[in-house]
Amino acid sequence: MKIGLFDSGIGGLNVLKEFLKKYPQNEYYYYGDTKNIPYGNKDKDTLLKLSLKAIHFFEQKHVDLIVIACGTVSSNCYLELKKQTKIPIFDIISSTIAYVNSKTFQNILVFGTERTIESHIFKNNLKGMTTEIKTPEFVPMIENLQIDSQIIAKYLKNFQDIDCLILGCTHYPILKAEFLKYLPSNVEIIDMGECLVNKIHLEDSNKQSVNLYFTKISDSLLKNIKKILDCNYSLNNIE
Ligand code: DGL
Repeated sequence: MKIGLFDSGIGGLNVLKEFLKKYPQNEYYYYGDTKNIPYGNKDKDTLLKLSLKAIHFFEQKHVDLIVIACGTVSSNCYLELKKQTKIPIFDIISSTIAYVNSKTFQNILVFGTERTIESHIFKNNLKGMTTEIKTPEFVPMIENLQIDSQIIAKYLKNFQDIDCLILGCTHYPILKAEFLKYLPSNVEIIDMGECLVNKIHLEDSNKQSVNLYFTKISDSLLKNIKKILDCNYSLNNIE
C-alpha cells in the first residue's frame, strides 16, 4: 500500500514511526511543510490552503490512504479536507478520543497548539473531566532541538492530580521522557500516533520504502529525522 502522511514539520514523523512499527512493509510518503511551520497559530483558511497542497502532492503520488499527522489540521480542517479528495483520509484525533473514552480516566490534561486547544475538540468529546492547555513553546523547542526542562516543569506543576496526559500535538512524543520526570507514575501518557495505528487495519506488502519530502531542509531537521527514524529513507526538498 502507498500511505501519505503530512504535518507542518517533524511531528508527523512520530506518527510515521508508529506505522513503521506495525506495518513495516509499505510504501510511505511523508510531506513536512517546514517552510510554513508552525501551523499551531495559523487561521483556518491558511491551514486549509496549506493542507490542500499536501493533499494534491499525495494525489500525484497516487497514495491509497492519507493520514493528517497533525493535531492542528485534524482539529480544524478534517471535515473540509475529507470533502476535497477521493482518497480515504484519517485524522489523528478521533482514535485518541475513542481510546480515552474507552477507559475510566477521572482527570485528563491535554497539551496542544493554540488552534487545537481553541477548537475544544477534546473537551467537547471526552467523557472524563478535561483541562485543555496551550503550550506554544513546545514546537519551536522540538524543531530547534532546544528542550527547556524548566518550561515543561512549569506547565506540569499545577497538574499533579491528573491520571491521563494527552499529547494533543504530534510533535510532543519527543518530550515524553521530560513529561515523565515531572509526573506521578500512575499517569498514562497518550500518544495520538499510537492510538491511530492501533485502530487502523492495513495490508502489509513485501517491501519497505520511506520517502520524505520537506518544503525546507535545515541542519536541525536532518538531526531530528535521524533521532526519530531508525530505517533507510530518501530525503527530498519540494520547494
Ligand atoms: N504537529 C502539529 C500538531 O500536531 C503542528 C504543530 C505546529 O506546527 O504548530 O498540531
